[in-house]
Amino acid sequence: TNKTMINIAKNGDELHEHLSTFLAERLQYLQSQHGTISIGVSGGSMPKQFTDAILSLGTAVDWKRIRIFMCDERYCLPTHPDSNLGAYLKLFPRELHECLVPVPIEESVARSAENYEKVLRCVLLPEQLNQTARFDLLLLGVGPDGHTCSIFPAPERLPKITDYNWISATSTSPKPPAERVTLTLPIINMAKNVAFIITGRSKAAVVKQMCLGGATANLPATQVRPANGKLWYFLDADAAAELPHD
Ligand code: 6PG
Repeated sequence: TNKTMINIAKNGDELHEHLSTFLAERLQYLQSQHGTISIGVSGGSMPKQFTDAILSLGTAVDWKRIRIFMCDERYCLPTHPDSNLGAYLKLFPRELHECLVPVPIEESVARSAENYEKVLRCVLLPEQLNQTARFDLLLLGVGPDGHTCSIFPAPERLPKITDYNWISATSTSPKPPAERVTLTLPIINMAKNVAFIITGRSKAAVVKQMCLGGATANLPATQVRPANGKLWYFLDADAAAELPHD
């Protein structure tokens, strides 16, 4: 559809340029629309890609009016090497640390998910009850198995998700560590903008299915279809290897 944009970069430098240009344009636009904007970021290679991109933005964006949530988080303290928040804290310049909203780490991963959902509800649904909860922008990665955030294939292992479940806990993530909390598809698909950043040949088959195929629960990333938002793909040539050239 015309709400999906696919960008293919020749190499890492070009991907970096595409991302920086995209973030400058989108964040400025979103900030012109309302006061404080909420974005969600993933783990894996994202902390490095995202930090590199925003460091080149200079003063184009007002960071005091940006909140950055974790799209998924590993169940550990930020000081642990597995922590997604910890990865951002290490890479971000000090003055941007206060943009980051931590996932509460409680006595169990289930309790962490519950409390993270409360935090999100306070921020995304501030006053009016009939207002729609929407992230302004989500930046997602994809695994070779088709997972995104910490939504993995084999959905029968996941707790049942309703439209009112924005956060879910898992204790069986096949990608270590096993215990994680994650945004669910209902809240992901409410977002105004969703951008996938995907690199590497191991993901080319999933990318093909995401861009050209139908949605299937065996490849959760194909189920990311923002109902009223825009979907962007930022790929390198390897990840785009199975897409038709034109
Ligand atoms: C995580 C993730 C996960 C990640 C993908 C892609 O915390 O593990 O958020 O969903 O985004 O596994 O990771 P790479 O970009 O490192 O391949």
